[in-house]
Amino acid sequence: MSTAVAHPGADRLSDAEMDRRADVCRKLLASAGELAMEGYSRLDATQPVAMKGPQDFLTETDGKVEEHIRATLAEAFPQDGFLGEETGGTGSARMWVVDPIDGTANFMRGIPHFCISIAFVQDGRSEIGGISNPAVGETYFARRGRGATRNGAAIHVSPTQAFDRAFVEFGWSPRIPNRDYLDKVALVWSLGANVRRSGSGALGLAYVADGRSDAYAELHINSWDCLAGLLLVEEAGGRVNRFLDGEGMTKGNPVLAAAPGVAATLSQVIGVPLDDG
Ligand code: IPD
Ligand code: CA
Repeated sequence: MSTAVAHPGADRLSDAEMDRRADVCRKLLASAGELAMEGYSRLDATQPVAMKGPQDFLTETDGKVEEHIRATLAEAFPQDGFLGEETGGTGSARMWVVDPIDGTANFMRGIPHFCISIAFVQDGRSEIGGISNPAVGETYFARRGRGATRNGAAIHVSPTQAFDRAFVEFGWSPRIPNRDYLDKVALVWSLGANVRRSGSGALGLAYVADGRSDAYAELHINSWDCLAGLLLVEEAGGRVNRFLDGEGMTKGNPVLAAAPGVAATLSQVIGVPLDDG
């Protein structure tokens, strides 16, 4: 599938049409959050867990939440495309990119660090990004050019300058050889940063936007895990890489998002260039 756009910029949405999408996105974060919490409240044998691959879990709730989001968007915006972690989709000039539960491994173990992530992309650029962790009642929202918020209050990336004071989250997945992951982590550690991993790429990025972490990096991640979070970081004053270059939308890419004071060092150390445009 290709997400290339024949005439980028042609037929762009008006502010009113974008407002309507932002409004539906906010409402969906709330209703999908309720659905996720309904599943979270009965994490036992009644909720079977399937494996999609090594260390890649699927619960009934992942499917239910994605179906709810997909159906709501299809009714509200029948012309928009959709790409979801569980049901796939096709690329188009205007599309929604959705992870129904990011941090599924946390979710199924009863760890309240998981979220719903929804991005709206127009002409290869994210315009709306929303992430909600219903277990702790935190909703992050960003609209391009209008800043980033947590539960309605403006957020900003951290002012950290010294790399040896930095908190860096380095995501792991079985898609990258462990040797490569360990080598990069060792390099970051050698410069004195505190490397952590919390099991949700989307929340890891939201925490950079919120100043709770100084950076999030992962050597391969999928678009549904990171597009909403990358917009949050940009709108909160951080630096990011050009994730959508090449086939990032459909096949994934490395991701890097960081507070300005640590971004250049981390980019150099892990070999992921920053977007300098
Ligand atoms: C995963 C999580 C994890 C990240 C992986 C993702 P899932 O998504 O975001 O933190 O390191 O790359 O695949 O399986 O929890 O939806
Ligand atoms: Ca995910």
